Parts: sequence; C-alpha cells; structure tokens
Amino acid sequence: MCFTIWFTGMSSAGKTTLSQILYNGLKERNKKVELLDGDDIRSILGKKIGYDKYSREANILYLGLLSYFLNRNGIISIVAAISPYKEARENNRKLIRKLNPFIEVYCKCELDILEQRDIKGLYKLAREGKIKNFTGINDPYENPDNPEIILNTDLNSIEYCNMFIINYLKDNNLIS
Ligand SMILES: Nc1ncnc2c1ncn2[C@@H]1O[C@H](COP(=O)(O)OP(=O)(O)O)[C@@H](O)[C@H]1O
Ligand SMILES: [Mg+2]
Repeated sequence: MCFTIWFTGMSSAGKTTLSQILYNGLKERNKKVELLDGDDIRSILGKKIGYDKYSREANILYLGLLSYFLNRNGIISIVAAISPYKEARENNRKLIRKLNPFIEVYCKCELDILEQRDIKGLYKLAREGKIKNFTGINDPYENPDNPEIILNTDLNSIEYCNMFIINYLKDNNLIS
C-alpha cells in the first residue's frame, strides 16, 4: 500500500533525523520510497524560493504535488519540511487522499529545547536579529489540529519515536 507521510514541525524538532531512519527502514523492507527533505529541495531551487508566506505555501504545495505524483506511480513519499501553514498542509491532505493515505506527523518540541539543539545555529542568529522570517521566533508556525501522529521529540528518544511510527504503519496495514 502506498502513502505519503509528512513530517512537520519547527527547525531542530527532528524531522530530518526521523524521516531518514524511516526511509532506511522502508528500504530494508524492499519498499519503493522517496524522501523529500525541504532543505534539499530548497538547495536545488536556490534563491528562487524565499521564506515569505507566499513562497512557503508554494513550497508546501509543490512538495504535496510531487508526493501525489510519486504515490500515483506506486512510490511511498516521505516529506520532511517545516511546512508552517495549516491551510497548505490541509490542501495536500485533500489532494493525496484522493488516492492514498496521508499521514501527518507533528514533531512537537518545546522552544527552549529547540534552541538548545539549534542544529544549524539559526535560532541564535534569529534571536540576534540576523535572520528574518525564522519560524517560531519571528515567523508563524501553525500547529496541526488533528495530526495522525504526534511525536514529543523533547520527551521521547529517537528510537521510541521511530517505533511509534512503525507501529502506526503496521496498525493501519500500510506495512507488514
Ligand atoms: N526523539 C527525537 N527525535 C528526533 N530527533 C531527536 C530526538 N531526540 C533528540 N533528537 C535530536 O534533535 C536533532 C534534530 O535535528 P533534525 O532532525 O535536523 O531536525 P529538523 O530536521 O526538524 O530541523 C538531532 O540532533 C537529533 O539527534
Ligand atoms: Mg531538517
């Protein structure tokens, strides 16, 4: 069974880490799967895509459309992208659900922990006023209302979070 699993959450919340582990786990199960990480896509598209609301929404919809096309061809899509806007995420849910399940995974983590992790050093720069439009500091993050999965990545280990996802996929007959 094909599906899209979409990791949303603020920077350093664990989207890249958990999506890569899931990708490897699905590959080991011989699944056809693609991983679309927001940062990789942005590095390909370069400066053409910015961080204003319009660009961010366009980016989310673009990843949704790619996922729809992948799923239509029997390939599981894993997306890891902040995707801060609810309306764009819901648009994708509607589009992908025409054919396949859509699983929104909210990587939830308290801001103080995110700032301690600060994997890319960007929270520090945002606090210093050196970056504008930084999600959670001076740009919005709209929490998912009803995500299929919530992972408290500040409270639980990486292994626990991954097992939680795997169990969800098994319980819903998406993997065996
Ligand atoms: N439960 C967890 N899930 C995911 N990452 C975790 C967890 N606990 C600690 N971490 C750490 O938090 C950081 C998350 O970074 P990353 O995956 O790059 O975040 P994002 O892609 O959301 O910006 C990593 O250093 C990871 O080891
Ligand atoms: Mg990332």
